[in-house]
Amino acid sequence: MKKFAVSILFVFFVLGSVFYFAPSLFFYKALRADISLKPDDQGLVDLGKLVYKNNCASCHGVNLEGQEQWRQPDANGYMPAPPHDESGHTWHHSDEYLFLMTKYGLEEIIGQEYPNNMPAYNNLLSDREIVAALSFIKSTWSMTVRLQHDKINIMSKEQR
Ligand code: HEC
Repeated sequence: MKKFAVSILFVFFVLGSVFYFAPSLFFYKALRADISLKPDDQGLVDLGKLVYKNNCASCHGVNLEGQEQWRQPDANGYMPAPPHDESGHTWHHSDEYLFLMTKYGLEEIIGQEYPNNMPAYNNLLSDREIVAALSFIKSTWSMTVRLQHDKINIMSKEQR
């Protein structure tokens, strides 16, 4: 009888884990975006400049300089907004990552709790507006960094 109870418990445990983790597995598959930043598309970059000014500059800086002491957690233990210019690490990430991060927030991407000050723009901006803001950011980087970033995109697509 005891054995029976143990197996029932085991079954519950397994089913429980499956139901608990399944949504994140399914969601992960959905977390893909077939987008590319277009820093040479002047119309898009102009739109992005406006979107950036109205939605991002308050934290990431009017000149993309980020917040002060951005490498250290603030008094609440949260990280300040990093710069989007070449001194930050925005250009280390692929187009897809930057887009998903802006649209859904970091927690959805890493699939775990990570309290931070960056809002998710899912319900605030259209996909085109997000791509525009990020294209504007890319358009401010030097040609060397832009080419480096193109390579990062190629590598990240190969890893899929
Ligand atoms: C309320 C402040 C705030 C606003 C507004 C904001 N961000 Fe952020 N952003 C942050 C913070 C804080 C982080 C760092 C999060 C962390 O890693 O803890 C961040 C990180 C990022 C990153 C990741 C950078 C990297 O190198 O990992 C991207 C991309 C980004 N933001 C884009 C945007 C865009 C685009 C907008 C406007 C549409 C925007 N953010 C608006 C606070 C903000």
